[in-house]
Amino acid sequence: MTDTINTAVEASAADVVADLTTEEKASLTSGADFWTTKSVDRVGLPSILLTDGPHGVRLQRADSDHLGIGDSVPATCFPPAVALGSSFDVDLLERVGTALGEEARAEGVGVLLGPGINIKRSPLCGRNFEYLSEDPIASGVLGSALVRGLQSQGVGASLKHFAANNQEADRMRVSADIDERPLREIYLRGFQRVVEDEQPWTVMCSYNRLNGVYTSEDPWLLTKVLRDEWGFEGLVVSDWGAVNDRVTGLVAGLDLEMPSSAGRTDAQLVAAVQAGTLDEAVLDLAALRNVELVQKAVRGARADASYDVDTHHALAREAAGASIVLLKNEGVLPLAADASVAVIGELARTPRYQGAGSSQINPTRLDNALDEIRVLAGAGAEVPFAAGYAADATTSDELTAEAVAVASAASTVLLFLGVPAEQESEGFDREDLELPAGQTELLDAVLAANANVVIVLANGGVVRLSGLADRVPAIVEGWLLGQAGGGAVADVLYGVVNPSGRLAETIPVRLADSPAYLDFPGEHSHVRYGEGLFVGYRWYDARDLAVTYPFGHGLSYTTFEYADASATASAEGIAVRVTVTNTGDRDGAEVVQVYTSLAGSSIVRAPRELKGFAKVALAAGESREVEVPVRREDLAYWDTRVDQWVVEGGEYTVEVGASSRDIRSVATVAVEGDAVSAPLSMNSSIGELIAHPVAGPIILQALSAGNEGDGPDVGGALLADPSMFKMMASFPIGRLASFPGMPVSMDQVEQLIAASNAQGA
Ligand code: BGC
Repeated sequence: MTDTINTAVEASAADVVADLTTEEKASLTSGADFWTTKSVDRVGLPSILLTDGPHGVRLQRADSDHLGIGDSVPATCFPPAVALGSSFDVDLLERVGTALGEEARAEGVGVLLGPGINIKRSPLCGRNFEYLSEDPIASGVLGSALVRGLQSQGVGASLKHFAANNQEADRMRVSADIDERPLREIYLRGFQRVVEDEQPWTVMCSYNRLNGVYTSEDPWLLTKVLRDEWGFEGLVVSDWGAVNDRVTGLVAGLDLEMPSSAGRTDAQLVAAVQAGTLDEAVLDLAALRNVELVQKAVRGARADASYDVDTHHALAREAAGASIVLLKNEGVLPLAADASVAVIGELARTPRYQGAGSSQINPTRLDNALDEIRVLAGAGAEVPFAAGYAADATTSDELTAEAVAVASAASTVLLFLGVPAEQESEGFDREDLELPAGQTELLDAVLAANANVVIVLANGGVVRLSGLADRVPAIVEGWLLGQAGGGAVADVLYGVVNPSGRLAETIPVRLADSPAYLDFPGEHSHVRYGEGLFVGYRWYDARDLAVTYPFGHGLSYTTFEYADASATASAEGIAVRVTVTNTGDRDGAEVVQVYTSLAGSSIVRAPRELKGFAKVALAAGESREVEVPVRREDLAYWDTRVDQWVVEGGEYTVEVGASSRDIRSVATVAVEGDAVSAPLSMNSSIGELIAHPVAGPIILQALSAGNEGDGPDVGGALLADPSMFKMMASFPIGRLASFPGMPVSMDQVEQLIAASNAQGA
């Protein structure tokens, strides 16, 4: 990026565009190379640099690629999203976002390609380590925090991958076939929140198709929903290589193709304008958005920007510590400094700290748990180590024998297990949820020698723990924790950090229990989201399935008590208040979770849905009233009759808890509904007519007026007999009105419908 603020940056973007030729405008809408946009030197418009993302700055100087193959400049590798999501800590994520912004700015990066907030639909998705949660509110709130921090530094975010990129299999072609309600309520909701709250500078469209249309050329997605409904003001950039047809994409709302097409698609745009098949105004608009982005990036740039490597490493350690989830602990942890421990597992010495693909950061330094444990174990304490398995997870009799020997001599074994790097990557999905067989055999051998085993996991997507969890006294879910994860694991094991992470995704008993099991990854380039709304815990709860560890679960070294919660409704939503007390003797942090449901709802709903959360740090013995606001719009469902968000009125149940299956207090609150008047037609049922604010009273009156003719008094009979009323409620009025003995004629019904629709409109 140029350091000089020049004319095209100071002028209004519209004036700049007005001065450009068609060729220059077209040139602005695709990259110059892998990572930069094109400059227009004639008018003094510089190029800017876009780079991955999301959990660090992956700036390649040479040998560029988008798959993480080439080398990049050193940058802090913060914990990937799988970890950050589990922290449930909005302030922390904002600070990580700010640090990412500082590093991006120091490297002259205008846009950092992240965060990724796709929903973890299946635990098999190869890229789940890059995503925050299986829940849209968690993804949206935490994603917003990252964007807020990043953009506070004058660096743009690129919210990705928009949308429904929930698998890697066939990702460049597959059509995610999703019904409207799950699409809106699960897959788009998080994006909507980040866009509306934070105005990311850019949104990155995904590779896949959505309901048959490439997202890179979907006017419904990129313009109607993103801009017209959500008010997005930034620029839409393609995922790298996601453009199918450049002209169609531009018309749909795709402003920037990345990476470079070597001018080929720019020429297509120019030719289309010249042939009159592309309105030049469409090109003007895309060029305008590109100029605006360049202006923002140049204004945000600081030639003298720098960052402190040590401070960021410390923040990466703090973030990793806050993201670790203590799944189980039967009195083994935390360890005393002088505890007799043995460390087993190559992963303790050679950490897996991020996933493979475009997000792969070249870290400024790298901690490993073994060294950090040795630091905390205190002077003189010996911490013997055995690898147990090789880096590729294979084992041998010799490695097992060494492991058994060190396990036998210690009182506590810290056993590091995890998913091998080659199984978790962008570009393909996992085949199962299993730990490598060699590792589970190692576990058997170690357990035979010493039952006091703490399992420390390293994995980007969840692993099956059923059958294993009840054989050990403690399990620490260590995800992929970034460059300082080794220190953070040691901090948690020794109680320097009191664990406070919570599961942002369910750990199922078996893969076959998971919601998308029968519909993943689809066939012949189509994947049907057959589970509908029932994603993650929504599914396990609705099916009443046992899980190994539920959404929201995570232990602490202290305990928290919840007093009775209260819930008050207002025009803004629901204010939930609860007093939480740290009843143990250690300082700690609790993630207070608020779920809602509506008994007797007229629509399909999950048994509970997360609507808010708050992470609260409490000193030992401290009590605090915590307020968790639930936004009214988050209570809404997508009403397919009227294509709108609608809050259904009624008595909502508000569950406040420490996990989705550990509800500590329940309140109820009356919420006023939105008036929905779905247009009536001759096909509307009697029940719908009666429920209609205009037609209802008139119909009821007509039914009760009795029959003046010879036929039976159908109206009277209907009103007198509840079961008959129930039977007839689903009858379309157009069919019934022509029956003999009806109190209203076909003509009258038609008039009533027209009048009601006119009044309701
Ligand atoms: C990935 C994006 C990434 C881009 C640039 C693509 O393959 O899907 O997440 O930002 O490459 O590296």
